Amino acid sequence: MSSSKLISTILFSVTLSLILQSSFGADPLFHFCSNSENFTAKSPYETNLKTLINSLIYKTPSTGFGIGSVGQYQNQPAYGLALCRGDVSTSECKTCVSEASKEIQNRCEYNKGAIIWYDYCMFKYLDSDFFGKIDNTNKFYMWNLNNVSDPATFNYNTKELLSQLAQKASVNTKLYATGEVKLDESKKLYGLTQCTRELSSIDCKKCLDDAISELPNCCDGKEGGRVVGGSCNFRYEIYPFVKE
Ligand SMILES: *[C@@H]1O[C@H](CO)[C@@H](O)[C@H](O)[C@H]1NC(C)=O
Ligand SMILES: *[C@@H]1O[C@H](CO)[C@@H](O)[C@H](O)[C@H]1NC(C)=O
Repeated sequence: MSSSKLISTILFSVTLSLILQSSFGADPLFHFCSNSENFTAKSPYETNLKTLINSLIYKTPSTGFGIGSVGQYQNQPAYGLALCRGDVSTSECKTCVSEASKEIQNRCEYNKGAIIWYDYCMFKYLDSDFFGKIDNTNKFYMWNLNNVSDPATFNYNTKELLSQLAQKASVNTKLYATGEVKLDESKKLYGLTQCTRELSSIDCKKCLDDAISELPNCCDGKEGGRVVGGSCNFRYEIYPFVKE
């Protein structure tokens, strides 16, 4: 391939990925359908779940967090929550949560429980009360393919920054924190930590510390990475990725 062809190919890919990211056809990052039994069409669970989903779509955007349950104890109740990233606007949150609610139902049509994540939000429901408990079941990693030149120092700085942000998030009313640290004259490292808001401060910190302990498995020497779970997540990059 000639170098100009190569360059135009690269430019095309860059442009395409920018378009994909800025329109909100943003793809989900990941999802899990719970492997518990399925519900059937027209069952009380389906009715409760639909009501729950609509109420989460309605109540999440104003504060960035929505939680609730629908249905009495004997009558197949559904429990759910939705959380937007701490910096996203009400309208972005609304778009993300409505998209997530549709997509999760497509992907896990008759599952009693499911969870889906996007850059801007997550959406989760289950047929049992999971509120205030750290979710150790649903978890995934993402990482930047680029390697850093000095992994030992970089890994140390990453762990330091994220640990500080775990503490900061755990005492923040939104259980959310962002921050940055200077790596050298021209480079900075940017981080974000967030928990679902029904967790206690102590459990938020614990959830994030556990996630941070997975850095060596997830993102060793990588320029960026995330550990994303049902109760908390972190992300770091060498470029700014949250709005001020
Ligand atoms: C539940 O439904 C899905 C399709 O939505 C199907 O693939 C799966 O096998 C079902 N699971 C059980 C336990 O019936
Ligand atoms: C990063 O390092 C890994 C392991 O050494 C290697 O397989 C990979 O190709 C490197 N990635 C890039 C983008 O150079």
